[in-house]
Amino acid sequence: MNLSQTLLGVTFENPTVLASGILGITASTWMRVAAKGGAGAITTKSIWLHEHKGHPNPTVISTEHWTLNAVGVPDAGPEKAKEEIGAYNAQKPAPLIVNIIAESVENYAKTAEAVLPFHPDFLEVNISCPNVEDEFGKPFACSAPVAASVTAAVKAVAGKVPVFIKLSPNVLSIAEIARACAKAGADGFTVINTAGPGMAIDLKSRMPILSNKVGGISGPAIKPLAIRCVADVYAATNGCCPIIGTGGVHTGEDAIEMLLAGASLVGIGTAVWKRGMDVFQKVCDEMTAWCDAEGIKDVTELIGGMHKVISKR
Ligand SMILES: Cc1cc2nc3c(=O)[nH]c(=O)nc-3n(C[C@H](O)[C@H](O)[C@H](O)COP(=O)(O)O)c2cc1C
Repeated sequence: MNLSQTLLGVTFENPTVLASGILGITASTWMRVAAKGGAGAITTKSIWLHEHKGHPNPTVISTEHWTLNAVGVPDAGPEKAKEEIGAYNAQKPAPLIVNIIAESVENYAKTAEAVLPFHPDFLEVNISCPNVEDEFGKPFACSAPVAASVTAAVKAVAGKVPVFIKLSPNVLSIAEIARACAKAGADGFTVINTAGPGMAIDLKSRMPILSNKVGGISGPAIKPLAIRCVADVYAATNGCCPIIGTGGVHTGEDAIEMLLAGASLVGIGTAVWKRGMDVFQKVCDEMTAWCDAEGIKDVTELIGGMHKVISKR
């Protein structure tokens, strides 16, 4: 069973990708998950142009079904990232996806320029953070023209590095946003960022548990939402833009479902905390067992499989 594939000129040993923000910006942890944990690629947390403070604790609360986070995208800026990414690149056991974020269209382009010297294999543009808003008070991912202008601004400086736009599920039509970004030059999409926001209340104090009151929802509860969003984006772009399907993936069968919906790669975030740093290897082993039982020889046979079955009906 072959799990590897080459996408936009980059070879991935397997489809699993460490999702952004889960293990911060630390070369030693990336090495751990890529060299020993089986991750097919690593994504950095979102990098800002300048140092950015996050929210005060408590910022994360988790149950078996969902995690709520309002870390507030803290970051020390590109200078600090440079050291860690440099250390990772010295060995680079798996491709590197560098995720960027900004508070204006202009600064998305400047941040992209600041991280390009780190030799990312892909740039991932986080326009979907629930805590970061454009001048109209909405995340950039909630407006097709705004999402398209961020895409065009980053593409204008990215050169040959493929640009993936990270979309939000919190929109009426993710298809409309994806089409606008594709028209503006997006090479691929990461689908989805956290959903919501949601809230959890402590019964004793009768107060929201998170200091920010609300936070983005991740984990198993958002998988059906993520699968539907991946399927919508795949259909909206005629399967022409590779998708990193992310949201609630914990098992090999979850990953297969993402591929059938249209993903080429599968992001794993919250499950790292639930199943450990080796979750990538576990997911790959489970995918292989499923494929062997189904007589699938190559993982790429599965990509968009649901759409093919529907079109034959
Ligand atoms: C604590 C935490 C921090 C995150 N930080 C980022 C981030 O910096 N940039 C980003 O694009 N997504 C960030 N995400 C979103 C994840 O990359 C992912 O899209 C989301 O959690 C859904 O996947 P999952 O259910 O596998 O966790 C974060 C998620 C969590 C739980």
